[in-house]
Amino acid sequence: MHILITGGAGFIGSHVVRHFLTTYPSYTITNLDSLTYAGNLANLHDVEHLPNYRFVKGDITDGDFLMQLFEEQRFDGVIHLAAESHVDRSITNPTAFVVTNVLGTVNLLNAANAAWNSDFQGKRFYHISTDEVYGSLGKEGMFTEETPYDPHSPYSASKASSDHFVRAWHDTFGLPVVISNCSNNYGSFQFPEKLIPLFINNIIQSKPLPVYGKGENIRDWLWVVDHAQAIDVIYHQGKTGETYNIGGHNEWSNIDLIRLLCRIMDAKLGRAAGESEKLVTYVTDRAGHDLRYAIDSSKLQRELGWIPSITFEKGLELTVEWYLSNSEWLNNVTSGSYQHYYDEMYGLR
Ligand code: NAD
Ligand code: TYD
Repeated sequence: MHILITGGAGFIGSHVVRHFLTTYPSYTITNLDSLTYAGNLANLHDVEHLPNYRFVKGDITDGDFLMQLFEEQRFDGVIHLAAESHVDRSITNPTAFVVTNVLGTVNLLNAANAAWNSDFQGKRFYHISTDEVYGSLGKEGMFTEETPYDPHSPYSASKASSDHFVRAWHDTFGLPVVISNCSNNYGSFQFPEKLIPLFINNIIQSKPLPVYGKGENIRDWLWVVDHAQAIDVIYHQGKTGETYNIGGHNEWSNIDLIRLLCRIMDAKLGRAAGESEKLVTYVTDRAGHDLRYAIDSSKLQRELGWIPSITFEKGLELTVEWYLSNSEWLNNVTSGSYQHYYDEMYGLR
């Protein structure tokens, strides 16, 4: 079995690569990543020596390159995570999201379809998506797999679009696709532009914590290791053509989450209770800020038996501990030095 994982140097991708390499030593895993600001090979330092691991630096927006890669290597499966992933960046530079998330996904569909050439026995194209495609909820209700798409940000619109293309390649060409839509992830190796690692970093440095609006927006949070486990289950047992929602049954308003994070940080840093919360600074709300996401993942539980393994309180504590004991990783990422170091090491420049 040879699986191509795209975006494997990113946050979730690195956990998926690690999970597959260590759980399935007989599989060959090729990690294809263009190493944008969000890609960091240090995220895979502990597994990059494994004999079943390959890294290819390449860009999914380059259709010819992908065609050639699929000609050279015989992939049995694709797990597609490469994307521009940050909502705030999609507001300042929407076009990059269209190019990578939409065109990049279509290029990958074309390459897989051409290489497999209607011989789909044992093949699988797994597209990783987000709950944000469903839009925003009011106080009640949850997203199910049947919820109509209603994206609001350029990020979620680009992911929604890519989901439609993946389904179109299934319906038109018979490509054996499966899609999952997951809620907000947290855990180790997350780039400190997203809420939890940004706030951990700012608390360490006693910098302000910029809370958008009133902090009332609600997200459902899932530990990234549990997402990787769900991806394994869906890759191996999910039904072709189906969609699975993945979530933590774990809704938090931003401000409640931030207060919990501040309490954990005070305890771990030996600071007086209430010290970190003083850093909370309310700032102008994000444009088009979705109020609430909540995901109903009962289909995944019922049909494939997956449930999250740990509570949010435990997962958040583990995450804080990881960032505190990996200050070198955090410093390299915030300074940008990681990009040069790994490029030189791999002879990429
Ligand atoms: P990330 O930004 O941490 O990583 C993205 C990776 O993709 C990086 O390694 C980057 O270098 C690579 N990449 C970007 N453009 C590329 C291109 N043109 N060619 C090749 N590689 C490219 O993202 P993440 O948070 O790990 O998210 C991974 C996937 O999961 C995305 O598809 C995202 O939409 C989805 N998702 C994320 C979350 C979340 O909470 N982070 C939740 C649900 C779904
Ligand atoms: P984020 O981690 O960017 O994920 P997403 O927008 O994909 O849900 O943001 C999570 C929530 O935290 C979201 O409601 C926006 C809010 N937020 C802040 O209040 N301040 C910040 O500095 C960031 C990055 C996010």
